[in-house]
Amino acid sequence: MNFPHAILLVGILLGLASCSDSATKKNSTAEGEKKISFPKDFLIGVSSSAYQIEGAYNEDGKGESNWDKFSNTPGKVRINGNIAADHYRLYKSDVLLLKKLGVKSYRFSVSWSRIYPDGTGKINPKGLAFYKDLVKLLKANDIEPIVTLFHWDLPQKLEDKGGWANRETAVAFETYASTKFKELGSDVTWWTTFNEPWVTCFMGYWLGKYAPGIQDLPTALQCTHTILLAHGLAVKAIRRINPKAKIGITLDLQMAIPADPHNPGDIKAAEIVNNSHHAWFADPIFFGKYPQDIVDLYKSEKVKLPDIRTGDMEIISQPVDYLGLNFYNTETFKMAVDKGWWPYKVESVADEKSLFEDKSVDASGLLTLLKYLDAKYSHTKILITENGCGNEDYVNHKGEVNDEIRIEYIYKHLEMCRKAMNEGVNLIGYTNWSFLDDYEWGTFGRMGLVYVNFKTQERIVKKSGYWFAKCIKENDFRLE
Ligand code: NOJ
Repeated sequence: MNFPHAILLVGILLGLASCSDSATKKNSTAEGEKKISFPKDFLIGVSSSAYQIEGAYNEDGKGESNWDKFSNTPGKVRINGNIAADHYRLYKSDVLLLKKLGVKSYRFSVSWSRIYPDGTGKINPKGLAFYKDLVKLLKANDIEPIVTLFHWDLPQKLEDKGGWANRETAVAFETYASTKFKELGSDVTWWTTFNEPWVTCFMGYWLGKYAPGIQDLPTALQCTHTILLAHGLAVKAIRRINPKAKIGITLDLQMAIPADPHNPGDIKAAEIVNNSHHAWFADPIFFGKYPQDIVDLYKSEKVKLPDIRTGDMEIISQPVDYLGLNFYNTETFKMAVDKGWWPYKVESVADEKSLFEDKSVDASGLLTLLKYLDAKYSHTKILITENGCGNEDYVNHKGEVNDEIRIEYIYKHLEMCRKAMNEGVNLIGYTNWSFLDDYEWGTFGRMGLVYVNFKTQERIVKKSGYWFAKCIKENDFRLE
């Protein structure tokens, strides 16, 4: 593997965008004055995940997760998520903050090891109670919960048995998911099985940068298949338990585009990145098969493919109610001159000039992506489950956080949402990443609409948060 390329690509594909790094930088619009509005039932809100905000990593009967272990192993990451934003303790006042933000929906994830400390077997009643109360409070405040079942933190006991490379983990997931479906019952309509499974598998089992820190491509590929199987089993389970529920999966879709749209080599490079990345998950779900070009590529590079058993693809391709989309940026690719990023043989073409000289936000990649998904996946409903940016936010002498650039970033992406809807894309919602500043998988990050002082756990609604609340209230999104 050509590691520098892999790292560059991974940074891009993870969506580690700062506010000004979005997409290509050309054509910054002067359309900010225009009013945008959304249908009444548009799921507009904010997003978070358990490991990134909850803390309380070993309290009230919670079991160890692979991220607890990984982040507390010296040399793996800079900071652990043991306390994070202390949300497990502060959730009641955090719901009041959500109310202040005026959101109609709140996407959060459940920590599996809080429910099943060992991954399967005995249930921890305090873990169940926590999420039940959170959902109750959200409903009481007219906030629609969107619950993700898995956002990267696997019970360590399951990791010890091979984690997502072990087919049995899919069965354990089905049990855990069914427990959640039953316990939260009709209070939760919107469910997401997995968040960004590419990251779980490739960052965790191939590049080893995330938990559990393994470096083996066939193991990562086996992980993809187990996760898809687990997804399909959960979809089947919810149809039995709560037929009214809506369920989907969230993929990271940092759309690869050809460096030169007329160059066949560049077109192929972008296809390889897209097909090995999000289509590797979406195609089995929507079409019942893995992308053939990538299967062929792995075969030609002698990479062992996952163990696919009779009936698996049928389970995996259960109809879903929507596709969850995490979008941060687009990136351009070409075929590598030399070896490139093994086994894909592509390389990323960073536009350094635009990265360092032009700080304007261009969100047009989102429109391109939404139209591409709409056409490819038969006009499926799409829910934007993440979109946002990191910024060097600070509290000024007045005690305020003036994150103007985030306002512009969000506005411009919402503008693309509106355009896509006008052009017929079936977009049903947008949850911004993120609700709170949080633990960004190795360090603290400032992507929130609410600032968090990680020493005192004080929260301050940022300027972007007040702007978002006003826009939602008036259903009138505009730049001032
Ligand atoms: C995607 C991930 O789902 C989320 O956990 C992460 O914090 C954001 N990207 C920002 O990096």
